[in-house]
Amino acid sequence: MLPENLKKELQDRIAAVDHPRELVVDVLFALQAHYGFVTDEAVEEAAGLLGMTPMEVDEVATFYTFVYRRPVGKYVIHVCDSVICWLEGGRSLQEYLSQKLSIAPGETTADGLFTLLPVCCIGYCDRAPAMLINKKVYGPLTPETIDQLLDELREAH
Ligand code: FES
Repeated sequence: MLPENLKKELQDRIAAVDHPRELVVDVLFALQAHYGFVTDEAVEEAAGLLGMTPMEVDEVATFYTFVYRRPVGKYVIHVCDSVICWLEGGRSLQEYLSQKLSIAPGETTADGLFTLLPVCCIGYCDRAPAMLINKKVYGPLTPETIDQLLDELREAH
């Protein structure tokens, strides 16, 4: 259940726009930040706030890569799965990440720390092969930089 202050904040934002639907992604991100992912309850709540049906909200939620409809780890690794990064060895680095974390793309490590989600171009082709971890960009990646980064994140936990 949404805390009253968050609900009020979202209601105020929605009331300030002519077309509440334009805020659906923003509302989903706010609910995701609160719940950790967009739960079924969050879909219902977003629909109620926006005057949409849960199905309409869910269509948006399942379309956007950065909206999570399933639980994710503390660190969500969005590794680029597009052509410029492929040309720079991105595919083998994806495999390396999978191997290092012992998970397949789409999965979360058993300790709940990392989720690996390949995505289309993240807009940092000049840093290929690249990835985002919780929206921070890393690249150009090598097995060594990946090792170092994962170690740092594990230590920071
Ligand atoms: S193709 Fe990988 S960041 Fe653009």
